[in-house]
Amino acid sequence: MPSSLTPTVTPNSIPPPTLQPDFSLRTLNTFGIDAMAERYLALHSVTDLQWLHAALQADPVLARLPRLILGGGSNLVLTGDFHGLVLHSCSRGIAVIGQDDQCTLVRAAAGVGWHELVNWTLARQLGGLENLSLIPGTVGAAPIQNIGAYGVEMERYFHALTAFDLERGCLFTLDRAGCRFGYRDSIFKHDWRDRAVIVDVTFTLPRQWQPELRYAELATVLAQTTDPTMQQVSAAVIAIRQRKLPDPAVIGNAGSFFKNPLVSRVQRDALLAQHPALVSHDQPDGSAKLAAGWLIDQCGWKGRALGPVGVYHKQALVLVNLGGARGADVLQLAHAIQADVLQRFGVPLEPEPTFV
Ligand code: FAD
Ligand code: EPU
Repeated sequence: MPSSLTPTVTPNSIPPPTLQPDFSLRTLNTFGIDAMAERYLALHSVTDLQWLHAALQADPVLARLPRLILGGGSNLVLTGDFHGLVLHSCSRGIAVIGQDDQCTLVRAAAGVGWHELVNWTLARQLGGLENLSLIPGTVGAAPIQNIGAYGVEMERYFHALTAFDLERGCLFTLDRAGCRFGYRDSIFKHDWRDRAVIVDVTFTLPRQWQPELRYAELATVLAQTTDPTMQQVSAAVIAIRQRKLPDPAVIGNAGSFFKNPLVSRVQRDALLAQHPALVSHDQPDGSAKLAAGWLIDQCGWKGRALGPVGVYHKQALVLVNLGGARGADVLQLAHAIQADVLQRFGVPLEPEPTFV
């Protein structure tokens, strides 16, 4: 089929979705970078994905375009216009799909807002996700980097997911082991990158809920609250986040710009000897996680700017768009920070967001 914008392949009588040309992504990424996509397609259902697969089979030009699967755009850096096909996850729906005396299974469509899901579960007294309150983005993106905050990573409550394989044109499911979750990592950043569109995610939430208060800052906020409820934990997490993270609706950003580096304990101990205030946490695998925000802060970057991109004045791990930033401006500041931290501490910083 020629590379027209309206392929004629329709799996059934539902009107086919529309491939849109020259689509602005400015409002679809929380950094607020003004970039265009050559083609854009909103995905509302599995039928849309089946239609897309048929269109890709029929149109070699379309099939050769690079792809970007897009959720809420809160973990992306658009380095320029995207000469490819943006597949925007827009499906809706949350439901309890099973229950026994141990747990409740909740399934949410990929396009549901993450915080909307957290609120939905808390409104039904289903605890577990409260420490992950207010993380921007969609349910479908949560497994990609195994989102985490305040002592909890998503994998703890993950049961399974359904995804669509764009190459073979079929659905498949993965359980927790199959997703190969790690710190800000999963199989979707590797083998399945840009090939699997996550369609829905199922969570297993315990019937017997216990608050998770290991994160020191959270424990401090709740120190005066006896037996905090899941709603109180959620409110405390929201308060901490609002205190130190910029609201993307007000100031463009993508959350933590770098991962907290994992180093050997030997390297950490050597750094500690030189920098007694270094913030680090021992990991179960014998490594140590360094606070990248502390490293950047020590290099004097907090509150500074390079052109239209700055380092947030309350949290040095967050880069912010001060107005009109382009991808190149973001990269320039990121490289300057990486070079300083490497020179001063000998530690390379790896970006957290996906660069497009
Ligand atoms: P996008 O930015 O749209 O995409 C991110 C990646 O996921 C891309 O590679 C994309 O291709 C892929 N993707 C998206 N949807 C799908 C899908 N359906 N199928 C396959 N691939 C898909 N993260 C944390 O872990 N913890 C935090 O505490 C945290 N705090 C944040 C605070 C702020 C203010 C901001 C702006 C970001 C924060 N983040 C945090 C990062 C971000 O919110 C998460 O990574 C979130 O999961 C991204 O969701 P999204 O829908 O916006 O994904
Ligand atoms: N710190 C400084 N200066 C700074 C920033 C931080 O000294 O400018 C120190 C803090 O004092 C603290 C330590 O660094 O001792 C850690 O800071 P914080 O508790 O703010 O957490 P973080 O390590 O910077 C991580 C995640 C966040 C997550 C929080 C809470 C990563 C890359 N980031 O941030 O996730 O919300 O912990 O669990 O793991 C994200 O991934 O986008 C994100 C926001």
